[in-house]
Amino acid sequence: MKKNILIVPGDGIGQEVTAVGKKVLDKIAAKYGHEFTYDEALIGHAAIEATGNPLPDESLEKMKKSDAVLFGAVGHPKYDNDPSAKVRPEQGLLKMRKELGLYANLRPIKLFDELLGASSIKPEILKGADILFFRELTGDIYFGEKGRKDNGDTAFDIAQYSRYEVERIARKAFEAAMTRGKKLCSVDKANVIETSRLWREVVQQVAKEYPEVEVEHQFVDATAMLLIKDPKRFDVVVTANLFGDILTDEASQIAGSMGMLASASIGDGTGVYEPIHGSAHDITGKGIANPMASVLSAALLLDISFGMKQESEDVINAVDQVLKAGFRTGDIADATTPKEKILGTDAIGEELL
Ligand code: NAI
Ligand code: MG
Repeated sequence: MKKNILIVPGDGIGQEVTAVGKKVLDKIAAKYGHEFTYDEALIGHAAIEATGNPLPDESLEKMKKSDAVLFGAVGHPKYDNDPSAKVRPEQGLLKMRKELGLYANLRPIKLFDELLGASSIKPEILKGADILFFRELTGDIYFGEKGRKDNGDTAFDIAQYSRYEVERIARKAFEAAMTRGKKLCSVDKANVIETSRLWREVVQQVAKEYPEVEVEHQFVDATAMLLIKDPKRFDVVVTANLFGDILTDEASQIAGSMGMLASASIGDGTGVYEPIHGSAHDITGKGIANPMASVLSAALLLDISFGMKQESEDVINAVDQVLKAGFRTGDIADATTPKEKILGTDAIGEELL
């Protein structure tokens, strides 16, 4: 199969881990006789430095034309402590999601057995946990009207959802539930928030089309607690943009490290595949970032955008094999890991496939 993949490394460790993700795609292409061609595009701080714009039109055009995007992360410490900065790296990320119509963010939380000890949660609570989050990605408080009044002393952000927006993400989650355990948990705050009441109403309506799926509605505060108390109770989880952002970072602890978690953003056009972590400036340039989140993002890309199930499973198995062989990056190593098994970003990438 011929495919054209856009590599968008972004900032910080985005550069380091995406390089490994791309190498894995190359190995898969060679193994299965596919022809993958690549182009690169700028986003985030790197794009601001080069063009003044966190998502230049040229990058957006390339994204729209490609068959899939492998993305890294955006961010730079200079913006984190400067809330007044008008041009910011994450504007590039939000614009990319909006312009490409990427309304569904899939975040599989899968714990590799070998990493049971890497989490701060007890192994007996974790073993067998396997959750697929659907986070709505182009609505909610992130994209609503925002601003200041009273001479800047009062700030506001408006959360807004339309029936249509909730319906399409709910349907995606129900479709996924049908291919998994036929269990879906919808998370909201319908006791207090109006957008949540619409959310619950619409999910209940869509549920009628999927009578086989067992549906549970939870308030987000309860979900935050239950994720840690009993992660195995969850299968497919669907939730709004803000709740999903927070809950999936929390859920990353089920998988042992942010460095292990991949995501797929899909919707109307080109799919974008990226680690859930950020640009991690505390470790940038040290060559120690865990590249597995990018590698597993490449696996999602193969499966979802290209329909290459076998190839995708091959990549996931390769990650499993490397872990079984005892290799670790620093973030997933523990006191029992021998020093010679702790590898850097490129070296652990070389062990794959
Ligand atoms: P972060 O996800 O970059 O890092 C959090 C912690 O996890 C750090 O201690 C980091 O070293 C560690 N970590 C993350 N990924 C790792 C990996 N692959 N291997 C080993 N350790 C890893 O979040 P943080 O520190 O809050 O933000 C850093 C910058 O990233 C900020 O500028 C922020 O705005 C940006 N950011 C960007 C995101 C994106 O592009 N999607 C998402 C989250 C943050
Ligand atoms: Mg986040």
